[in-house]
Parts: sequence; structure tokens; C-alpha cells
Amino acid sequence: MRTTIKSIRAREILDSRGTPTIEVDMELDCGARGRAAVPSGASTGVHEAVELRDGDTKKYGGKGVLGAVDNVNNEIAGELAGQDVLNQALLDKLMIDLDGTHNKNRLGANAILGVSMAAARAAASALNVPLYKYLGGSNAVLLPVPMMNIMNGGVHANWQSADFQEYMIVPYGAHGFRDALRWGSETYHALKKVLKKEGHSTGVGDEGGFAPGVSSNEEPLDLIIKAIEEAGYEPGRDIGIAIDPASSEFYRDGGYLLRTEGGELTAADMVEKYDSLVTKYPIVVLEDGLAEDDWDGWKILNSRLGDKIELVGDDLFVTNIERIERGIKEDVANAVLIKLNQIGTVSETIAAVRLAQKYAWGAMVSHRSGETVDSFIADLTVAMGTGHLKSGAPCRGERVEKYNQLLRIEEDLGEAAVFAGRKAFVR
Ligand code: PGA
Ligand code: ZN
Repeated sequence: MRTTIKSIRAREILDSRGTPTIEVDMELDCGARGRAAVPSGASTGVHEAVELRDGDTKKYGGKGVLGAVDNVNNEIAGELAGQDVLNQALLDKLMIDLDGTHNKNRLGANAILGVSMAAARAAASALNVPLYKYLGGSNAVLLPVPMMNIMNGGVHANWQSADFQEYMIVPYGAHGFRDALRWGSETYHALKKVLKKEGHSTGVGDEGGFAPGVSSNEEPLDLIIKAIEEAGYEPGRDIGIAIDPASSEFYRDGGYLLRTEGGELTAADMVEKYDSLVTKYPIVVLEDGLAEDDWDGWKILNSRLGDKIELVGDDLFVTNIERIERGIKEDVANAVLIKLNQIGTVSETIAAVRLAQKYAWGAMVSHRSGETVDSFIADLTVAMGTGHLKSGAPCRGERVEKYNQLLRIEEDLGEAAVFAGRKAFVR
């Protein structure tokens, strides 16, 4: 069986926001194929690998990706032709070296990642194993607890709702993934009823969560608690809450500007605020509570809350080993968010997860607010045994496709499947 690369072809497609992104098809000499599409963020960290956009404002307002498509079809395809697709780490290294920059700004992290993911898919297909088994081996049996973003704020709701970007439910009390998904969906629908009853809008934001106007960043928590109870579950015991304020988005000149609350807070004030929220509500995860370069603030945050809940760095670490290493050394958090396109290759993403796991940190694989129906992250989560997956509300095709893929994986594993459950969140 010849697992060498015969052809690589990229094209410009649209993501869930109607913005261009890149899709890559790879074919091997044995006839196996792999296809992958690249996601895109809105609350992007400044330290992320660079997403190459055309900048030609006459097309898609400058957001086209034809340059990145060209880089795949010419330079990258030429470099990788004839390489064995089973050498994922080598393929990724060849692309990193070909790009030659520290943040993939020449060829584009979107171009490189599309090829990297398509290669993994083609390899799995050639070997006739599911992607999660190809990446994770026969011990890949852990199904994650879904972290479902059911209320959207910040840039994901055009600042029409809360300042905090994401309010997630975490149905860790369920007995398996299928149950967890059902509990989450029932709570989502109960929330819709609660919102209607209280005269709120039920329009949804970029990640499928509701985005009503609210008068404080705490109000969504009260609405969610009501919804959990309406759905017949017990907050804290059955379903916990995770929040992602994505605070870099409201950080200005050293202060945290909370529009709904009409005030600017210091990092220490923010920590006080989070501490009181954690005391009042069953919050088990706080992501990007402080801004991407506020390392001193993060130290205060971790010393106050690090032994109670998971403190996750998203914009802070950007799935970048050097930044995660600094975080471990300086003891600023205890978990890392994992996004393939923040770093730009499958191999580097896996290395970031392994680094977190080596130090007993949590690792949460995550979608982006701009997605496609590609469900690579569902397989990646199981492959790496992270126990956590963020893929938005149980609503909008590009969000539910990841959850649906986990249903298929759970079915494929049969009795071997293990559900991460509550212990994945206990500190
Ligand atoms: P983004 O948001 O994809 O818009 O960056 C997701 C997140 O902050 O977790
Ligand atoms: Zn985030």
C-alpha cells in the first residue's frame, strides 16, 4: 500500500459566518483521500499564528483566502509531493521550515493547517481506521464532557448582550456522552422558554447560544440556573457552569472595561468579582478571566482560585508550547485551551496537549466562533483523552456536527467507551 502523497488541492469555501476559509483535499498513491476545513476566530489572541487573508477589499471585504489557497496548491504541494503521509510530524516540520517565520505568516497558518489536517485524515483512511484511533491508538476511549455555550456575549453577539463572551453548561453528572448531550439540549430548550417568559429575545449568537440584552454579567448565570432546574436537573450536582469572559476583548490600558456594569476594574477587582461568582454559582471553569499579557494578574487569579476551579488560558497560551511552558513555570493557571488554528499544525497541537497533561494540567479542545462542518476536533479530543470539548450550543449545524461525531465515536467504541464525567472537573 503506497501511502505517499499524490496530490494536494485547496479551495476557498465559506465558514459559518459567511467568511471565506480554506478547504484542502489530499489524495495518496493508494487512492485514499482526506479532506479538511480550517476554522477562524473572532476574539483572536494577538499571539496566535497568522491567518493569511488577501486584503483585497473588492472581494469579501479583504477576507478572501485565495493567496493561502495558492500557497497550498503550489509551494506546499510541491514540497510534500511523494512524502509518506504516515509521517505526520515530518510533514508538519517540512511546512514549518518552508514557511520560515515564527508565526507562519508567510504561507499562512490556515494554509498549513488545512494540509496538516487533511494528511491525518488521508492517513487514517489509508489504514482504514477512524481518525480518533489513528491519532490516539487503541487506548483512545475517553469521551469528553461537552462544554456547551448556551449564552453568547461580547464580540460573538456584537456587544448587544453581556460583556462576558461565553456562558457554558457542563453536564458532567450524566452517565455517558449521549446522555450528557441530551441533558445539555434539554437545558438549552428550557432556557429558550425561560427567556421567552421573561420577555427576552431568543436570537442566537455566533456559537449558537442565546444573546439577549442583559443588565449585568451575572444575569445570564441566573437565567441558566433557572433553565437547569426547569429541565429537571440540579445545578452543581448534575450540571456545572463554565464561563469564558474572553477578557482581552475588554482590556484597555491596564483596566477591564465592563460596559454593562459601567465601570473599569483592575485585575485584583476582577479576581474579587470571580471569587464571589464562584462562591454563588456552581462555576467549575473560568477561561481567559484576565487578559492575554496580564501575567501578573493571572498569578493573583491562580493563587486565589487555582485550587477550586479550572483556570484556562486561551488567548494567554494560544496553544503555543513556549507560552504554556512559561505559564507552568510561573504558576499562572492550571489548564490550557487547545485550538488547532492558533498554532497551525496537528503535530504542534498534540505536543501542546501532551505538555499540559505531563504537568497534570487540564486540556480543553475547542472549536472557533467561525466554523465549518469539519469535525476533526471531536476525534482529536478522544484521541488525546482530554475529557473536555468546547463546541458551542447544541444548535447550528457546524456546532452540533462535532457532538454528532462524538455520538458516532461512542457507538463505535461500544462497551470500551469511558465518559470523562465529573472527575474531569474536580480539583
Ligand atoms: P473565538 O472565540 O473563536 O472567536 O476566538 C472562542 C474563544 O474565545 O474561546
Ligand atoms: Zn476563549
